[in-house]
Amino acid sequence: MKSSPPEKKVLVLHGPNLNMLGKREPEIYGKMTLEEINRELIRQGKNLGLTVECFQSNHEGAIVEKIQENFETCSAIIINPAAYTHTSVAIRDALLLTDAPIIEIHLSNIYKRETFRHRSMISDIAAAQLTGFGHRGYSMAITALAGMLQN
Ligand code: DQA
Repeated sequence: MKSSPPEKKVLVLHGPNLNMLGKREPEIYGKMTLEEINRELIRQGKNLGLTVECFQSNHEGAIVEKIQENFETCSAIIINPAAYTHTSVAIRDALLLTDAPIIEIHLSNIYKRETFRHRSMISDIAAAQLTGFGHRGYSMAITALAGMLQN
């Protein structure tokens, strides 16, 4: 019997303070918790034939290490670097390790907010950016990725 090909892995990275979703400025970031977002991503991934691994950290180095551990084995990365979006050369450099497509995502529309949020350190190395769709952005990202990875 022919065995089915191994599922492609998508690494989902959440930056600082996203563990507070649901409690944190719900008028900007919505009421859904990170656990709920992750659960939905894993469920949707399964339906699309993707293995989804989620990781959140409030520490820049921990996010860098997670990318270093996974860059050779993951087929794509979805990342909301949160505040590190605007500052982190270290996360950008770690992401440059991989040839896998990177989807940058933000719950809020960063371009409608303070000017310091308008600059992203990773937008030019991302395959796509989703900003302002709230928790729905994550569903859109995983669905789009499934299509992109088929091509
Ligand atoms: C964010 C936007 C960032 O500016 C902010 O620091 C965050 C969340 C978003 O998802 O809208 O923590 O990345």
